[in-house]
Amino acid sequence: MVRKPWLLLPSQLAHDVSPFFLKLHSWLRPSKSYSWKSLTWKGLKFENPLGIAGGVDKNGDSLAGWWSFGAGFVELGTITPQPQTPNPGKIMMRNIKELGLWNKMGFPNKGMQHCLKNLQALKSRHTPVFANIGKNRTTKNEDAHLDYIQVIDCLNNEVDAFVLNISSPNTKNLRDLFSKNYFFNFLNPIISHNKNLPNPKPLLIKLSPDIQQEELFNLLEISLQVGIDGWIVSNTTTDRNNLDWAPQQGGISGKHLAAISRNLLKDCVEYLKDKRKDQIIISCGGVLTPEDVYDRLNLGADLVQVYSALVFSGPNFFKSVAREALS
Ligand SMILES: Cc1cc2nc3c(=O)[nH]c(=O)nc-3n(C[C@H](O)[C@H](O)[C@H](O)COP(=O)(O)O)c2cc1C
Repeated sequence: MVRKPWLLLPSQLAHDVSPFFLKLHSWLRPSKSYSWKSLTWKGLKFENPLGIAGGVDKNGDSLAGWWSFGAGFVELGTITPQPQTPNPGKIMMRNIKELGLWNKMGFPNKGMQHCLKNLQALKSRHTPVFANIGKNRTTKNEDAHLDYIQVIDCLNNEVDAFVLNISSPNTKNLRDLFSKNYFFNFLNPIISHNKNLPNPKPLLIKLSPDIQQEELFNLLEISLQVGIDGWIVSNTTTDRNNLDWAPQQGGISGKHLAAISRNLLKDCVEYLKDKRKDQIIISCGGVLTPEDVYDRLNLGADLVQVYSALVFSGPNFFKSVAREALS
């Protein structure tokens, strides 16, 4: 019997049919909760620190499915104000031998109103839910903060935290928002707006792995000053050193990203040492085995997220990690 039948399908098809199987699984087996290394942060209870990364469930169509597999938290999105189609041409690929994924999707999603309806239709909730949010590709960088504010206003009553995604390599010039010209002016109005809402939610920012140490420290410093609540380390990489199986454009996930995002995590933990109050660090990138999960936690990550592991090991990855953690 084939143990991972989805790996026989083309990656795009496997991605497209997965919501159906997740829904089926959630009907057959309702929510499963694995309790290991539980934590409470800003009143949010995480039964375990392992969650799904941005991009896995772009529209919040499969929440019950992720809960039925025992995820400790779920990040939806990237969600933009208006629905948008993917970038043209081939948008994803996997390399099973290299445990790698390539994508140049460009935030295809059904828009914030669709996600809102999905969240409002939930009958029960089993883990914290984060919304990863982005700008539409037609919105200029000068106006980008307005898109993020729109999505925050739309989903604020339905999610537990927001992740500001400006680190995707697949929306033209998006990463420029990290530059000195933009970063403060982008972040500050979003954080001020959120603070003035009746029910403000924690705001995290997802970092790019393709930055030098000096730039990283500068971004951490500014984000601390403006009052960010945490960082996700990291998005996909544009690095192609010793990698020949993927196109030049787009982002790489999985094994190739592991050392890069692990080093970035170490740098963040080291730099933020005494400067951190209750801000969290979420490690993401190349976490492919239960040992990788514990390694990132031991390095100082508060939470860990996976995408590639769900492709190469399947959704029972949550169970395998819990089993070893509890043994
Ligand atoms: C096909 C695909 C789509 C993705 N879409 C998003 C996205 O919409 N938003 C986002 O923040 N990250 C997105 N990512 C990046 C993942 O969230 C994660 O940062 C990256 O894959 C590294 O984790 P991994 O090595 O466990 O896969 C995507 C990754 C892949 C492979």
